[in-house]
This record gives sequence, C-alpha cells and structure tokens, in this order.
Amino acid sequence: RAVRMMDENFYREQILDHYKSPRNRGELDPHDATAEGQNPLCGDEITVDLRLTDDERIEAIRFRGQGCAISQAAMSMLSEEIEGKPAVEVAELGREDVVELLGIQLSPVRLKCALLGLGVVKVALNSSVGTPLPEGFEGLDEVTWT
Ligand code: FES
Repeated sequence: RAVRMMDENFYREQILDHYKSPRNRGELDPHDATAEGQNPLCGDEITVDLRLTDDERIEAIRFRGQGCAISQAAMSMLSEEIEGKPAVEVAELGREDVVELLGIQLSPVRLKCALLGLGVVKVALNSSVGTPLPEGFEGLDEVTWT
C-alpha cells in the first residue's frame, strides 16, 4: 500500500510537471497535418500540428490549447511518446495507453479529458495519411466529445 501511494505521488508530480512545462508546445510551420478538438463539457481545446517523414512517421509534433491539467499533461506526454513512431502505430493507440502514460486511475469524466489529445492526433493523421479513426470519428475533421 505504501508503495502504491508513492507510485501515485510520482505520477501526480509528473502530470503537474507536464502541465506546468508542456513539452512540444507551439506551432509547426510548415506542417503536413493539423486538427483541433474540444471537450464540450468544459470548452477545453487542443490543436495539433504534425510533420511526417516520407515513410509516414511522426517527425515532429506541436500542440497548443487550453484546459485542465489532465488534458494538457496527457497531450504533452503523448507528444513525447509518439515522436518518431509510424503513423499506423499511433493510430492504434487506445485509452489504456493514455491511462498508462498518466499512471493514475481516472473517472469517466477525467478519461474524456485524458483522451482529447489522442483523438485530435488521430484525426490529423486520418486527414493526412488516411489511418483509421476510432468509431464515431468518421468524417470529422474536428473532434468533439459529447
Ligand atoms: Fe476540460 Fe478536462 S476539464 S478537458
């Protein structure tokens, strides 16, 4: 139990650190793909720019937006995680991967916060290299959670 608490504290500090000092924050110009999304529950939003290599790997990523610590920290962590990865691999990431990155238990509402950034990344990839979208996202170029 003591070990578990230490773990949670560690992850909470990581989240706070990413929130206060987001990695890969800003804009990418030029970029190959861009998308934006928002969580209508709170109005928080994230915009993502991606640059891709010829063999469709994430060469660079920048994001900007505003929102709660979970949404912004998750996006920051995700941006580090996916840099250099093939687009097809990133398109397969799911909620478990984001939860694992954050390292804490999340309520359903918080889960929506955490998944906002990943959804936006997937929409950007879909629009540029045609990787599949999660169910319910088809045809969107803007992500909205309801
Ligand atoms: Fe808005 Fe978390 S409260 S994304």
